[in-house]
Amino acid sequence: MKTCIVLSVLLFSHLCSGKFPPWFKFGAATSSYQIEGAWNISDKTPSIWDTFCHIKYDVKCSNANGDVAANSYYQWEEDLDAAADLGLDYYRFSISWTRILPTGYPNKISKDGVRYYNELINGLLARGIVPMVTMYHWELPQNLQDLGGWTNSLIGTWFADYAKVLFTLFGDRVKTWLTINEPLITCAAAYGKNTGFAPGISDPNYGAFLCAKNTLLAHAHAWRIYDVMFKPKYRGKVSIVNQIFWMEGQSEKERKLGELTFSLNVSTLQKVIYTYPVFSKNGGWPAEIEEIISTNSKNEGFSFSRLPPFTTEEINFIKGIFKTLLRARGSDRKCRRSHQGFISK
Ligand SMILES: *[C@@H]1O[C@H](CO)[C@@H](O)[C@H](O)[C@H]1NC(C)=O
Ligand SMILES: *[C@@H]1O[C@H](CO)[C@@H](O)[C@H](O)[C@H]1NC(C)=O
Repeated sequence: MKTCIVLSVLLFSHLCSGKFPPWFKFGAATSSYQIEGAWNISDKTPSIWDTFCHIKYDVKCSNANGDVAANSYYQWEEDLDAAADLGLDYYRFSISWTRILPTGYPNKISKDGVRYYNELINGLLARGIVPMVTMYHWELPQNLQDLGGWTNSLIGTWFADYAKVLFTLFGDRVKTWLTINEPLITCAAAYGKNTGFAPGISDPNYGAFLCAKNTLLAHAHAWRIYDVMFKPKYRGKVSIVNQIFWMEGQSEKERKLGELTFSLNVSTLQKVIYTYPVFSKNGGWPAEIEEIISTNSKNEGFSFSRLPPFTTEEINFIKGIFKTLLRARGSDRKCRRSHQGFISK
């Protein structure tokens, strides 16, 4: 408490003087599809975003695609100079899975992909900027998507293999690894209703939950591989990145619903389905959520719960694997009763 007050007073006095304290670090972040372009260069194969924006160009991608984007594949030096001019301490970027592993698997490692990310990482370090790497910012190899992507339970193994390649290639210089960026988007949004996110498969009531389970297992695979094989040598950190929202009722009429959402602590770190299995004491899904979905599934005539259960082994595999939690911006959300079939519940 005392430290906290001292820190706030320090920060406050610095802000009043118009200066940030010297220990305050600045960073900026990008993701590969959003900046790299060069979508079909060298031996890179299409990711789900390449496919999505080529097929659903008009409606879903606002008449745009990432074919060229900010052209950072070619202009990374200018981009890094701009980052240095800004005085950034950190730069977070993501690696495109298919630029490094054109088949999606480690049977083929792209020389050009390795060259590109080596130059980027070395360029950052040369400018005194610390690299933070996101391993998955929503760009699954299209061929893995064709096999079911995040709804295929084998993806834990595929992601583990990819992670091992990245740690091996870049772990000597990259000390902060972010496994999966915002599973809420990878799963709930990408498998949502009228989804505007690749792969654009609308299956909010089941697909999104299969994805959630497999995403957490994939994160756990990567975390444990690093912990055993790389951490002793490189002393880095690995985290999932979760997006956390504050929830409240949309109107006075929905106040009770807001309170229920809040009481499930969806708004806190504790009970979000993408967070609870990793960071809670018990592990597994939050019991209240598991019960609600199981009951709903039964009433809907399913023979199983649409929220796929974890085995005890899986619960223990995922639980407690953290030293750090990277949080994406938190904002607030209003909740109301869902329209029929609008959102999974
Ligand atoms: C790569 O994509 C561009 C469109 O962005 C296209 O003009 C070009 O022909 C493609 N190159 C190859 C080798 O397919
Ligand atoms: C939610 O969090 C609050 C504060 O930590 C706690 O008192 C309450 O019991 C929690 N609710 C549930 C349903 O876990």
